[in-house]
Amino acid sequence: MANLVIVGTQWGDEGKGKIVDILARDADVVVRFQGGSNAGHTVVNDRDTFVFHLIPSGILYRGKLCVIGNGVVVDPEALIDEMDRLQAKGVKIGRNFAVSQRAHLILPYHKAIEKASEQSKGWRRIGTTGRGIGPSYADKMARIGLRVGDLLNPQLFRRKLEENLGEINCFLERLYQVPGFQSEKVFQQYMGYAERLKDYIADTAVLLNKAIDEGSTVLFEGAQGTHLDVDFGTYPYVTSSSAAAGGACTGTGVGPTKIDAVMGVAKAYTTRVGSGPFPTELTDHVGEGLQERGREFGATTGRPRRCGWFDGVLVRYATRTNGLTSLAVTKLDVLDGCQELKLCTGYRHGNRLYKEMPSDLQVLSECEPVYEVLPGWTRPTTGVTSYKELPPQAKRYLNRIEELAECRVDMISTGSKRSETIILRNPLGPARRKPASARRGRSPFPHPKKH
Ligand code: IMP
Repeated sequence: MANLVIVGTQWGDEGKGKIVDILARDADVVVRFQGGSNAGHTVVNDRDTFVFHLIPSGILYRGKLCVIGNGVVVDPEALIDEMDRLQAKGVKIGRNFAVSQRAHLILPYHKAIEKASEQSKGWRRIGTTGRGIGPSYADKMARIGLRVGDLLNPQLFRRKLEENLGEINCFLERLYQVPGFQSEKVFQQYMGYAERLKDYIADTAVLLNKAIDEGSTVLFEGAQGTHLDVDFGTYPYVTSSSAAAGGACTGTGVGPTKIDAVMGVAKAYTTRVGSGPFPTELTDHVGEGLQERGREFGATTGRPRRCGWFDGVLVRYATRTNGLTSLAVTKLDVLDGCQELKLCTGYRHGNRLYKEMPSDLQVLSECEPVYEVLPGWTRPTTGVTSYKELPPQAKRYLNRIEELAECRVDMISTGSKRSETIILRNPLGPARRKPASARRGRSPFPHPKKH
């Protein structure tokens, strides 16, 4: 198997970072395709604990090319901060890193608009991460966005910025009654970022396609999750990007014919941050227990995550809309000690039984979950690395997840460390062909920059 997309099947925070980190070992290239610094995940390895927001965690391995694709919105301040933190811990960032010239930038006014807009929404607020994601994507679609490549053309950057601020300051000051921005100040700030980032800016669509043509294995790293996808999620309580697998193509410039498999990551229960319907949410001590044992607090904002039972309807919908070829189930160990476990098999709304996600948000918020109850297990699963060693009740639970999701399970995570994982089948395959460039003894990175 060559090129693999990894996506979240729930509302984000499924533990994709750990799965990407494990699979990156067998990949040549890791690319982020959507979202921005709203994402956050922690990777624990033998060396240290690393927090990532924008840079693919593949950067921790030597010899992997890590790419921020055109579908990502880049906050240069956050990116430089992340680079600094990683470099301070001894991680090498040089020719192994590239950012798309077509990726859109997050500017200070995006954060200001988001803050003011959320505040003015009252009960309709989405509970965003405050990172300027939505307004930056809105500018992209309105065709007034500034792109990473514009950092290399100061005159054009200045002109676009001035034009945008003429309108945006009016909006901020008159409608929201908050201070606007001085274009010269923002310009100088961004030219400083340009100096720091210029060597990494590239046409990553060309870079990725060349790497694929030369036989490299590419891992497409999704952020957030299917139900936060702007099309398939619980709209409007979603993020502003295509977090489902389709986003891997539009967000990198790699066509669907070059993608071989899609792995969905599902937590063994369900969590959600921010507002929006959550049919299996637990607001009692059981939910609190999951939150505590699962350390369910956001890596980006530190907000507590809402917790609930595993929702088969949610994950089955992710199987369909992403064309999942397999699942990775994470945080199984968090369920250790639960007397009984509930799995949602459908939603009841009045006399109607839903087996698929209703698109109508009002219907979804009024749905009652239909549960099936399975016995829990007492023997700890933390750190278990072989399927055979799992308690029979845990195996039954996983089998039922496969049936409800209509998708096979390839990986099971039983703890935060790389080693605490059961790999039933590696979706990248054990024996892979070496990239053609490596066979010829050249660098696998057709990246023109020198460092
Ligand atoms: P935004 O992406 O900051 O615009 O936030 C929109 C919604 O997506 C909010 O409910 C956020 O809590 C949620 N969200 C965004 N990024 C993540 C993530 O990485 N994990 C979980 N939820 C997220």
